[in-house]
Amino acid sequence: MWRKSFPILLVGILTLPLCDAVADESQSPLERSKPLAQEFMKTLMKELSVAISQGGPAGAIEVCKEVSAQVENDFREKHEDILRVRRITLKTRNPELHTPTEEQRKWLEGMEQNWKEKPSPEPDVIESATMTTVLFPIAIQKSLCLMCHGDPETFSSELKESLAVHYPKDKATGYEMGDFRGALTIEWKKANE
Ligand code: HEC
Repeated sequence: MWRKSFPILLVGILTLPLCDAVADESQSPLERSKPLAQEFMKTLMKELSVAISQGGPAGAIEVCKEVSAQVENDFREKHEDILRVRRITLKTRNPELHTPTEEQRKWLEGMEQNWKEKPSPEPDVIESATMTTVLFPIAIQKSLCLMCHGDPETFSSELKESLAVHYPKDKATGYEMGDFRGALTIEWKKANE
């Protein structure tokens, strides 16, 4: 008897991961964003640490720019309904790419105001007519971040130079441990668009 049902059981087990992938599409933008946000942060941290250990913070400046742009594009290519993946902040280093929309700015200001008393690291969602934006708050939690976003007095002249060349309008310094820095945002097309 069990011999007969064995192949059916096997097919059942083998198709399980496939069903998961299909079910994925029906998950909410928030649920779909969570593993992407994790992957983004993990990749960036890894590449950043490697680049710093090889060339110091000044040498890692360009890597940081390239890696984040690459991961953002990868996600867009893999998911047709993702409009944009990027990091936003009130104090930009790269204003061309990371200036928030009006709605996102209000959200960031609200977070910033409450952060000291009640930091809320949980992701949030902004719904608009055309898209759903999932926002993952980013804080300065590692001393590594301060190497390039802390007090400029502590920066080497090499790092200062590199920042001046690549980011003449840099506002993203002066942060302290625990500060609210911004958010990783994933913008999803609305299903009926
Ligand atoms: C090696 C220097 C370096 C380190 C270390 C570093 N950053 Fe950055 N950070 C940059 C650069 C360069 C950019 C601009 C990237 C671009 O042009 O897309 C940036 C951009 C950002 C942005 C996007 C908003 C903006 O200002 O343009 C956020 C958010 C951010 N960093 C957070 C962090 C956090 C959190 C850490 C610690 C985990 C960290 N950074 C560590 C160099 C660094």
